[in-house]
Amino acid sequence: MPQTALTVRNLVVHFHTRAGVVRAVDGVDLDLFVGEKLGLVGESGSGKTTLALAIMRMIKPPGRVKSGEIMLGDVDLQRVSDAEMRKLRSSEIAMIPQGAMNALNPVRRIGAQIIDGLVDHDQQGSQESLRSRARELLAQVDLDAEIADRYPHQLSGGMQQRVTIAMAISLGPRVIIADEPTSALDVIVQRHVIDTFERIQAATGTSVILVGHDMGLMAQFNDRIAVMYAGRIIEIGPVADIFARPQHPYTKLLVSSLPHTRNKEVMKGIPGLPPSLVEPISGCPFNPRCPFVMEKCLSIKPELTEGERDSSVACHLPAGALA
Ligand SMILES: Nc1ncnc2c1ncn2[C@@H]1O[C@H](COP(=O)(O)OP(=O)(O)OP(=O)(O)O)[C@@H](O)[C@H]1O
Ligand code: SF4
Ligand SMILES: [Mg+2]
Repeated sequence: MPQTALTVRNLVVHFHTRAGVVRAVDGVDLDLFVGEKLGLVGESGSGKTTLALAIMRMIKPPGRVKSGEIMLGDVDLQRVSDAEMRKLRSSEIAMIPQGAMNALNPVRRIGAQIIDGLVDHDQQGSQESLRSRARELLAQVDLDAEIADRYPHQLSGGMQQRVTIAMAISLGPRVIIADEPTSALDVIVQRHVIDTFERIQAATGTSVILVGHDMGLMAQFNDRIAVMYAGRIIEIGPVADIFARPQHPYTKLLVSSLPHTRNKEVMKGIPGLPPSLVEPISGCPFNPRCPFVMEKCLSIKPELTEGERDSSVACHLPAGALA
C-alpha cells in the first residue's frame, strides 16, 4: 500500500445562507498518496473549491466545517492551533487559489511578494540571499529574473500563473492543492504552464491535488482522477480507467464529452441540472439526470465503495454494467 500524504474522512462543510443550509461538501473521503497527482473534476458548484479550502482550514463564515477528519501525514489539521496552521500552510501544504492572478498584490513587485512569503515563514537570510532565492524560484517556473522587478499587471496571465506556482513551491511543501490554476488561460498557454508544473512535481515529488475542467489536461497530468458531484466524490480511480472504463454514469457522460471538455460550458452540456444543495436529497443525487435510474436510486444513497480494478464508485449499478 503506498504511503498517504493526506487523508480526508467524512468531511462535511455547510454554508449557512438566507436560502437555507448549503451542503457544499457532503461526506468526502479521500486519500492522496505520497508523490501522487490527483485530479479533482466536476461541474461548477460541485464543491471542489470548498473541499480544497476546508483541507487548508480556510473556510470562512457563513461556511463551517461540520464534521470530519483531515490528516496531513500524522498531523490532525483540525486540532493544531491557528499559529501552527499558519506555519503549516505553505511550508507543508500550499494552495494555489482559484483565480490566483487576483491573489497577487497589484501594488507590490513580484520579487517582493515572493520574499514576503519566505519571510512570513521565518526563512532567514540577508536581503541579497532572499532576492537570489526569489530569482531561483522564478527560474524554476521558466521566468526571467528581471520579472522580479515588475508589477503583476505588467505580466501576461500565463506569467502571473507561473508566479503563483513559484510562490506555492517556495517553501517546499509536501502537498500542493492547485484550484484551476490554468482555467483563465488560452489552451496553448495552459498546456505550457501545466508542463512546467509537471516538471517541478517530478523533480520535487510533491503530492498534488489539481482541480480542473479540461479533461484532456487532467488526463495528461494526473495519476488518478476523483469526480465530484453535489458535494460528494462519486468515482475515483486511475486516469486510464476513468477515461476508458468509467463505472459511474456521470463519469461516463463527463468523459464522453471529450475531446471538447475544455471548459465549464461543455460540462454544463450534460442534460439536466445538478441538484440544489439546500433541499435534502433523497437517494442518489444523480437520479434526476441518470439514464440508468432504478427504483432504489430514489430512496437509497449509494456509498463510495470499491468498484472494479483500483477504482471506487458510488452507484447502485452492478459491476461491469457500463462496460
Ligand atoms: N461563501 C459562500 N457562501 C454561500 N455558499 C457558498 C459559498 N461558497 C460556496 N458556496 C456554495 O457551495 C457550493 C460549492 O461551491 P464551490 O465553490 O466549492 O464549487 P466548485 O466545484 O469549486 O465550483 P467551480 O467549478 O465553479 O469553481 C455551491 O453551491 C456554492 O454556491
Ligand atoms: S445510483 Fe442509480 S441514479 Fe445514481 S448513478 Fe447509479 S444508477 Fe444512476
Ligand atoms: Mg471552484
